Amino acid sequence: MITPVILCGGSGTRLWPLSRKSYPKQFVPLVGDKTLFQGSALRMASDAFAKPVVITNSDFRFIVTEQLQEVGIDPGAILIEPEGRNTAPAVLAAALYLAKKDPEAVMLVAPSDHVVPDTAAFQAAVLKGLEAVEDGKLVTFGITPTHAETAYGYLELSEASEGKAVALKQFVEKPNEQRAEEMVAAGSFLWNAGIFLFKAADIIEAFKKYAADMVKPVEDAIRTGQTDLGFCRLGADAWSNAENISIDYAVMEKADNLAVVPFNGGWSDLGGWDAVWRETPKNAHGVITSGEATAIDCEDTLLRSDSDRLEVVGIGLKNIMAVAMNDAVLVADMSRAQDVKKAVEALKAKN
Ligand code: GDD
Ligand code: MG
Repeated sequence: MITPVILCGGSGTRLWPLSRKSYPKQFVPLVGDKTLFQGSALRMASDAFAKPVVITNSDFRFIVTEQLQEVGIDPGAILIEPEGRNTAPAVLAAALYLAKKDPEAVMLVAPSDHVVPDTAAFQAAVLKGLEAVEDGKLVTFGITPTHAETAYGYLELSEASEGKAVALKQFVEKPNEQRAEEMVAAGSFLWNAGIFLFKAADIIEAFKKYAADMVKPVEDAIRTGQTDLGFCRLGADAWSNAENISIDYAVMEKADNLAVVPFNGGWSDLGGWDAVWRETPKNAHGVITSGEATAIDCEDTLLRSDSDRLEVVGIGLKNIMAVAMNDAVLVADMSRAQDVKKAVEALKAKN
């Protein structure tokens, strides 16, 4: 059995005004009628998987239970971080928690904010990684890159893969633009999907080797943690001593026992409204309307109202995104989707 470990403590700003610090994108139905978090949990609900361990921070604990209930998934455990300290401490906490019962437990660490439309292909890729996991490898999943993206990690294959897990030569997290361009041109690199498969004991071993200072605080946070209302709340004092860093920088860039399974079943991390537009079914003119929204003579446009008060109407628009909430409306050119985070910064500076 594989235990899903769902990371859902992040807060995305590029999908403002829908994604907020208090209600980030993973908890919103961005594509289809389920939220991204629900989609992620459902993707790992089958006979091959045990009940999921969800790790999130205190603010989201009730959203997590409510959304799992809605889709009929019973969590194996909900670990609560007193504060978000990025993915390295979160993954280590889940690994130590699982290892208490079974150090050999195989965990599938997955983000909560991605779209993977083909569940069968995804599960098949995960199963392909199991042999390497038995061999003590830390398995990553690789996506064929389409452009020189600087927001992702890159995985260098040691040989052509033919669909099987192969050893990784190197893991490069979030390169600068020039390096990203070089890696895409080289043809031997895949994007890191942000999904990992390994045994609890093996990732704990890697933390001891490459991020040793983090082990004691996270162990202490579990030891001093409290279980209440079905949550396991990690001890705050110890937790605050764990370094705030992602697993990609803390472990993956350094480890020498990585493998990768290529995955070409469709994947998006919905890094902006343009990606939401790409991943959502559209009419023949490339138009998406959602909620109380009406498009007249529009092309390649996304009109969305998540407000219970505002109606959105677009006339003669091309390449535009408009998203209305009760308290904020975003209107932008589709090509400027990445600049939405600038809007969030500007608003923060104003308030
Ligand atoms: N529990 C918890 N606590 N979850 C967190 C925290 C935290 O402090 N911070 C982030 N997460 C969750 C996010 O909600 C998301 O589901 C997942 O962990 C990954 O975090 P991101 O912050 O979205 O990472 P990223 O997108 O910058 O980079 C990662 O994903 C890329 C693919 O989308 C890396 O693994 C890259 O290498 C990868 O290419
Ligand atoms: Mg992300």
